Amino acid sequence: MRIIITGTPGTGKSTISKSLAKELKLELVDIKKIVMAKKLSNKKHEVDIRKLVGAMRSLKNKKNYLVEGHLACEFFIPADFIIVLRTHPRVLQKRLKKRKYNKKKIQENIMTEMLDYCTQRVIQIYKKKPLELDTSRRSPSSSIEEIKKAIKQKKKKIDSVDYSSLLVEGY
Ligand SMILES: Nc1ncnc2c1ncn2[C@@H]1O[C@H](COP(=O)(O)OP(=O)(O)OP(=O)(O)O)[C@@H](O)[C@H]1O
Ligand SMILES: [Mg+2]
Repeated sequence: MRIIITGTPGTGKSTISKSLAKELKLELVDIKKIVMAKKLSNKKHEVDIRKLVGAMRSLKNKKNYLVEGHLACEFFIPADFIIVLRTHPRVLQKRLKKRKYNKKKIQENIMTEMLDYCTQRVIQIYKKKPLELDTSRRSPSSSIEEIKKAIKQKKKKIDSVDYSSLLVEGY
């Protein structure tokens, strides 16, 4: 089975993926680790996507993996299930503050989340709707259970998420 877990930074990809990959006995591929190991980003932390695609080419021959990272929505990776983790802007703000991200970076990520960016990008790149799961009010373990259930039952939907109204209403 090939799973992709993507979403805005702080939505819980790494937390969930580590346990889920173990439980499902899938090779865990952390895109951030590849970017760091192969030095694919510049001083501004911009990643060379073309080089990243090259670095991940070996996945083509594999049938079992869980790829996680926000950049997974930027280029095509063969997958049976694509999951986009979502988080309410206020919860995301708290999580990123805890990480000591600066104001600008927190604001950028909140904006990305409110704009539905990762979901829209997945639809554009993968030509299919991802499964969206909101981690705002779930524990990591219950998020994992929801994902496992959705995979087993081949669900087309987990949560309906739309934080775009908060762009005008505030959050
Ligand atoms: N239901 C949940 N699922 C996942 N993480 C959760 C959940 N609830 C709270 N959290 C917390 O949110 C944080 C998510 O951090 P994590 O590093 O997993 O995010 P990420 O999406 O991998 O970010 P990045 O893109 O920067 O790597 C963790 O501190 C985790 O404990
Ligand atoms: Mg992560």
